[in-house]
Amino acid sequence: MKKILSAILAVIAAISCCFSIASCTADSENCLIMVTDADFPPFEYLDDNENIVGFDIEVAEAIAEKLGMTLKIESIAFEKIFDEIENGKYDFGMAGLTVNEERKSQVMFSDTYATGIQSIIVKEDSEYTKLNDFFAGFDESGNPITAKINITIGVQKGTTGDTYASADPVEWGFEEKNVKKYATGEEAVQALAEGKITAVIIDSEPAKSFVDKYSGLKILKTPYANESYAICVNKDNTELLGKINNALEELEKDGKLEEIQNKYIAK
Ligand code: ARG
Repeated sequence: MKKILSAILAVIAAISCCFSIASCTADSENCLIMVTDADFPPFEYLDDNENIVGFDIEVAEAIAEKLGMTLKIESIAFEKIFDEIENGKYDFGMAGLTVNEERKSQVMFSDTYATGIQSIIVKEDSEYTKLNDFFAGFDESGNPITAKINITIGVQKGTTGDTYASADPVEWGFEEKNVKKYATGEEAVQALAEGKITAVIIDSEPAKSFVDKYSGLKILKTPYANESYAICVNKDNTELLGKINNALEELEKDGKLEEIQNKYIAK
């Protein structure tokens, strides 16, 4: 009898679980749907059980908790995140997202919750030891005129690393033709580890994670760019943006943000 009862309970639990997931859509009131691209440690990545975990996930969970809402997370290709937020498919995007003017024409950003640096990863024995080494000629003010021939810079497609690297040398870019765009940052790092490309431009914290994971790589001391990270929402959703900003402010005041930061980001 007990067995039958627990079997029935298990079935009920399974059904209600599916219902709560199924009812978690962008329109449902108590549900917050976050979109990310979960291959960016320590911000968002898959753990050994294929669960999406990381700094952003814990901040998002803390925000949802403050708002009394249930968080659901979906991972998609990075370059689609802003379009999908614009389309209203998800409530908010959080993926170590750098705030910039171009993106502001498509989405709204929250207050920033972390800062980042774009770093350059090369092979340990690389002849490229500083940013200037990637350029062949400089003007009187010290700005590059042309990139070296035969360099290939790997980036994750659609990231700010991609934008900077693909710019012209006057803006310290390496020229579009020298940039190879990968679906994920890790694929770019893998190609570098295999000696297929010259360098990778990626945010500093993922850079550290990947350099730990793949042997024979190092991060150059010259930072490539400084950035701020924020959450993005649809331009019509000022209400949610306000709630997110309030929650972020509270998390900052009560020390929770710092606690999460200390857990994922080494000082
Ligand atoms: N900070 C960079 C940007 O906003 C890279 C972010 C990549 N994030 C990710 N989850 N893959 O473009």
